[in-house]
Amino acid sequence: MTKLAISGGVPVRTKPWPRWPQWDGRERQRVLEVLESGEWGGFNPVVREFEQIFGKRHQAKHCLAATNGTLSLEAALRVVGVGHGDEVIVPPYTFIATANAVRLTGATPVFVDIEPDTYNIDATKIEAALSPKTKAIMPVHFAGLPADMDAIMALAQQHNLFVIEDAAHAHGSTWRGRPMGTLGHIGSFSLQASKNLTAGEGGILLTNHDDLAQKLWSYINQGRSPEGAWYEHESLGSNLRLTGWQAAILLAQMERFDEQLARRQQNARHLNAFLEEIDGLEPMRWDTRVENHSHHLFMMRYDATGFQGLAREQFVAALRAEGVPCSTGYAQPLYKQPPLNEPYSRIMPCPVAEKACQEVIWIGQSMLLADPSEMDDIVQAVVKIRENIQAVPV
Ligand SMILES: Cc1ncc(COP(=O)(O)O)c(C=O)c1O
Repeated sequence: MTKLAISGGVPVRTKPWPRWPQWDGRERQRVLEVLESGEWGGFNPVVREFEQIFGKRHQAKHCLAATNGTLSLEAALRVVGVGHGDEVIVPPYTFIATANAVRLTGATPVFVDIEPDTYNIDATKIEAALSPKTKAIMPVHFAGLPADMDAIMALAQQHNLFVIEDAAHAHGSTWRGRPMGTLGHIGSFSLQASKNLTAGEGGILLTNHDDLAQKLWSYINQGRSPEGAWYEHESLGSNLRLTGWQAAILLAQMERFDEQLARRQQNARHLNAFLEEIDGLEPMRWDTRVENHSHHLFMMRYDATGFQGLAREQFVAALRAEGVPCSTGYAQPLYKQPPLNEPYSRIMPCPVAEKACQEVIWIGQSMLLADPSEMDDIVQAVVKIRENIQAVPV
């Protein structure tokens, strides 16, 4: 019997996994150019250049950079008119920023359960949550896997609602050939440190609607109009401008974007094929309408009955000891966080989100940038634990 690493045995893997973020001389050169231009703020042309490249890559008519993915969500909600007294439909299995953005506008998040095999909002449960106050639906393409935009857009049209896509994880993901962030009225992305495209912090907004693009520009720029004078302010706004430094980094990051997207998908498909064969670890459903999946996270669902009753936490500890960094993700659905308890939110029954918090295992996106042959280390670690299951300390 092989000794498990958690009991002092030799780990399957000791070699480090790819670091994140990744950079080279291209970032260095671009940042130096911004430094020497003396124009460090949001009006440096590199910011427009980045907007153009990201917007074109995502087939969007308009692309506007912003300070981060929380404020960009809030801006999107504000420009479609969401505010005090309104309700916005959100999933409960996501990062808190999704629902915080709703609250920051003065509106109330309404939590609707997720699908068991995608962890995205369950469109079949949205209708029962609508009220006369509902103004918008905010699906999250969780982990980069697109939510069912066919069903969500149909519902929104039927009930005259706005759709703001929280695409914070979904850079490059597509649904029926269309990039996420362009199917709803506005799409919002995060460029924060862990994200698949990053400048440490940052956000970005996509829209195909001219009027919304103009409102977003104005909101990002203190309520100015593009033609107006500097101290002329037509509407309420803020300062959400991305800096030249960030755009410089992002332009260099974009040069690796497609190669990294392809690599993550190749490795994820390999891992999914392995999981299909393993009792007790279920892959997520990769809908046939999804051609590209960014895999901000690689997720799998753990069922202790396939591992002789071993608790997920012990399995994860054993896997980590074998050299496979992974985690159990969110401990609870968002509505259990104090700022999102009732009456700050309205909560529909969410048994699937509750279960997701108990069953999932997350692996971060940067591990999927390893050489495809290295995915076998993950496979070997799972197999080793399975073969020595009685020896895992409980
Ligand atoms: C789903 C989701 N939405 C929104 C955000 C907010 O983005 P940021 O951290 O850039 O404010 C994040 C991440 O951090 C996120 O994971």
